[in-house]
Amino acid sequence: MTAIQDSVLTPTLSSRYYTDSAVFEAENERIFERQWYYVGRADDLPAPGHFLRRQVGRETVILVRGSDQTVRGFLNVCRHRGAQLCLADSGDMGKAIRCPYHAWTYGLDGKLITAPNWQAMDSLDRGQYGLHTVHVEQWEGLLWVNLAPDPAPLIDQLRPQIEARLADYAKFERYGLGGLKVGGRVEYDVAANWKLIYENFQECYHCGTIHPELVRTIPEFQSPAMGTGGYDPTGYAIADDLASFSLSGDTVLPRLPHLLPEDDRLFYGMVVRPNCFISLVSDHVVVHRFEPVAHDRTTAVCEWLFPADVVESGDYELDDAVELFSKVNEQDFDAAEWCQPNMASRAYRHGGVLVPSEQTQIGVFYQWYLSALGDET
Ligand code: FES
Ligand SMILES: [Fe+2]
Repeated sequence: MTAIQDSVLTPTLSSRYYTDSAVFEAENERIFERQWYYVGRADDLPAPGHFLRRQVGRETVILVRGSDQTVRGFLNVCRHRGAQLCLADSGDMGKAIRCPYHAWTYGLDGKLITAPNWQAMDSLDRGQYGLHTVHVEQWEGLLWVNLAPDPAPLIDQLRPQIEARLADYAKFERYGLGGLKVGGRVEYDVAANWKLIYENFQECYHCGTIHPELVRTIPEFQSPAMGTGGYDPTGYAIADDLASFSLSGDTVLPRLPHLLPEDDRLFYGMVVRPNCFISLVSDHVVVHRFEPVAHDRTTAVCEWLFPADVVESGDYELDDAVELFSKVNEQDFDAAEWCQPNMASRAYRHGGVLVPSEQTQIGVFYQWYLSALGDET
């Protein structure tokens, strides 16, 4: 069997990129442990002592808000004999990080403070036994970590991607993500390789088949040619007879405060590599965080963001907006799960094909992916 080559259709990645745990290992090492990686929201850590625990590539990382309000990141590894310091995914550790095993105790800044029977070790240089730090940066209320020793600034990774999608970074800033709050959250355990989910998000060839609610809301998505030549930087319009991007199409929420009238009634979706999707509409923003768990499994966390007063007042029906993208998520993740088992079929050894409307965006993704991964997997 040879790979399908055609002047109209172009090849997908071959099957091993979706089935081989050695490829997944290489992705962890060369992509997720080298690039800025989205781990959660700054407002998940409202006060000193609050922490998040996250898997980043092959490492477990803890993010902790210090008494100076700075969020720091550490490898979740005790310097004594290696126990995990945090055994929960989130919580409040109080004034110090205390190892559950022999109670070595670190400050919220990662410095070793004390250990049982300290008198017997008081000549020890505590400065040598602090926690291993990882780089943390915040962007628009989202926390990102980088395990590389000396990474370039986060904005250097993100801004070119936003500009490639919207053509104008100022347009993105008008959505004011940093000032929004979570009004809905759903976590999904998807039995599929992360790249199947990303490929799906970057084409609308499937929209007419599996997303009846979405194409009712954004009629342009009905066209199987949508996406030919790449995303439209002017956005996709909500149907004229609907009031909003919501399941019923009726619920009216206040427009995000910094948007211009020209931003109204438009939808923009984008992949922010390596593990985030952002979808913009004029009254809310949807942010997906992905955690690739194995070559055939991905955790997805979807959060719906609204202005704080909209979330807190209780005056608005947010579920209608949440339910539209919830449906889309379920439909998309089901589709990825339809494909994953067949990635190992002899019929798919050389992969599949991309139709013209899939080629530009998925092509950009493949180019980024293969270049980040290198050639030697
Ligand atoms: S392993 Fe942490 S105190 Fe011993
Ligand atoms: Fe979809």
